Amino acid sequence: MPKVISIINLKGGVGKTTITIALGEIMAFNHNLKVLIIDLDPQTNATVALIGEDVWARRNIRGQTLMQLFRDKLENTSIFSAEEAIIKNVSNVGGGINGLDLLPSSLDLIELQDLIINIPVSRFLPFKPVTVLAEAVVDHLPGYDVILIDCPPNLGLITQNGLIISQHYLIPVIPDVLSTYGIPQIVSRIKRLSASTGIAIHPLGVVANKFRKQNIHHTNQLTLLKLSEAEGGYHRLFNTVIPETSRAAAAMDFTAVCMNLHHKYGYEIPYTMYTALTEEVLKYVQA
Ligand SMILES: Nc1ncnc2c1ncn2[C@@H]1O[C@H](COP(=O)(O)OP(=O)(O)O)[C@@H](O)[C@H]1O
Ligand SMILES: [Mg+2]
Repeated sequence: MPKVISIINLKGGVGKTTITIALGEIMAFNHNLKVLIIDLDPQTNATVALIGEDVWARRNIRGQTLMQLFRDKLENTSIFSAEEAIIKNVSNVGGGINGLDLLPSSLDLIELQDLIINIPVSRFLPFKPVTVLAEAVVDHLPGYDVILIDCPPNLGLITQNGLIISQHYLIPVIPDVLSTYGIPQIVSRIKRLSASTGIAIHPLGVVANKFRKQNIHHTNQLTLLKLSEAEGGYHRLFNTVIPETSRAAAAMDFTAVCMNLHHKYGYEIPYTMYTALTEEVLKYVQA
């Protein structure tokens, strides 16, 4: 069975999507692993970065996104098919990376998200509200070595659907006070979800992103994260620290055609950080 990792933080803009995509691309391209990225975030950023807006729009109309999966539960329909929704060999690198697949999200999930909260639990039967995704993808999981789930910046029902198929979760943070503030909440809420479902979901660690070494607050916060590894409940601070760089930001533009990963991420920064991070992640999950 695959190693399943949720990438999560209650805060937006910390690099969840960018890190998910870089990890997925490097695992598939450099490590020859079969990888599925599940875009659970209604912001749909990972989807658009991996397939572009046009393909997304066509698939969205046909109900081939995770929005349809949740809409089916609301409207008592069964239009969604994971088989049809999963897109093979995605990314703007080399016209698509072999072994990197995507289960896309939809911007329309934003509105649906609010409605889902009000669905009576009975509507989900025989499913439970948190197992909707699990039931939909269960047959596809064995085909992958690694599954990366790009989570929305909350711990709502949609995020919980991703967490309960995960054995691990990774917390990207900007090493500043506001971005690290929510870590204890994430850890304790996921611990509770683990306890109530009987599913072990382990913290993989915190990865510092958008690090500015001239910024004294960033260096202080990094030291604090390292010192608090044990009692913070997040298991570890990754050795790899990803600097703030315009190249990382530009890499999310699908319309920029890239021949290979160096073309996308450079030879030095941030390429070497993303490859080092990937190696750390693979070592810790033993994929
Ligand atoms: N290391 C980095 N350096 C500079 N900009 C970054 C870096 N990582 C992410 N970004 C940019 O920061 C913004 C938020 O990143 P994103 O991955 O979308 O975060 P999230 O998914 O947590 O909301 C995006 O514009 C992205 O391009
Ligand atoms: Mg995101």
